[in-house]
Amino acid sequence: MEITIRKITPEDVPVLAQMAQQTFYDTFTGTCTEEDMQGFLKEYFNEEQLGKEVANENDLYFFALADGIPAGYIRFMEDYSGLSLMKQWKALELKRIYVLKEFHGKGIAQALIDFFLDYARQQQYQVVWLGVWEHNYRAQKFYEKYGFVNSGHTHDFPIGNTPQTDYWFWKFL
Ligand SMILES: CC(C)(COP(=O)(O)OP(=O)(O)OC[C@H]1O[C@@H](n2cnc3c(N)ncnc32)[C@H](O)[C@@H]1OP(=O)(O)O)[C@@H](O)C(=O)NCCC(=O)NCCS
Repeated sequence: MEITIRKITPEDVPVLAQMAQQTFYDTFTGTCTEEDMQGFLKEYFNEEQLGKEVANENDLYFFALADGIPAGYIRFMEDYSGLSLMKQWKALELKRIYVLKEFHGKGIAQALIDFFLDYARQQQYQVVWLGVWEHNYRAQKFYEKYGFVNSGHTHDFPIGNTPQTDYWFWKFL
């Protein structure tokens, strides 16, 4: 299988929206009510919202393609709004990394995170950081393989009316 990474363009937004909804649903279904899930998907993963994000040159979206077919995506941005103490460093936030479940464990996520870490080093970021749900053990294990550690800081990440807590993980470069 040949894995390639390419920038997501405005023309890709319908495919991105479908992938974003599917992967979020598969990851978090059962952790909140179906109503909360559907509300969240509509609010954050509609084509208009994603189109605005993709059009923002500071908001970086890339697909991983498996033999030319979109299999996962990554989103990252320099954004300190989630945890203002990060402002003491030049910090890059990994906002999303989602791989279709049939491609888990196949190196797609590895290609995406390697691409992200290479970018961060090239741009001379001091630290990369991300939020991960406290019970998302697979993702935590994945991040730990790449040297991320739990910073000890947390934040609320409600899905609709369902409260959830995320850990902030970070990795100093
Ligand atoms: C998180 C994600 C990108 C990682 O990609 P992946 O291809 O699954 O990652 P890998 O298989 O390389 O690594 C996962 C590790 O977790 C381990 N693992 C799997 N299930 C686990 C569990 N329930 N508890 C702990 N570890 C687990 C795997 O064995 C593997 O470790 P290993 O390589 O030492 O065997 C992918 O699983 C994904 O898209 N998940 C859904 C979306 C998501 O959770 N995104 C992150 C939001 S913060």
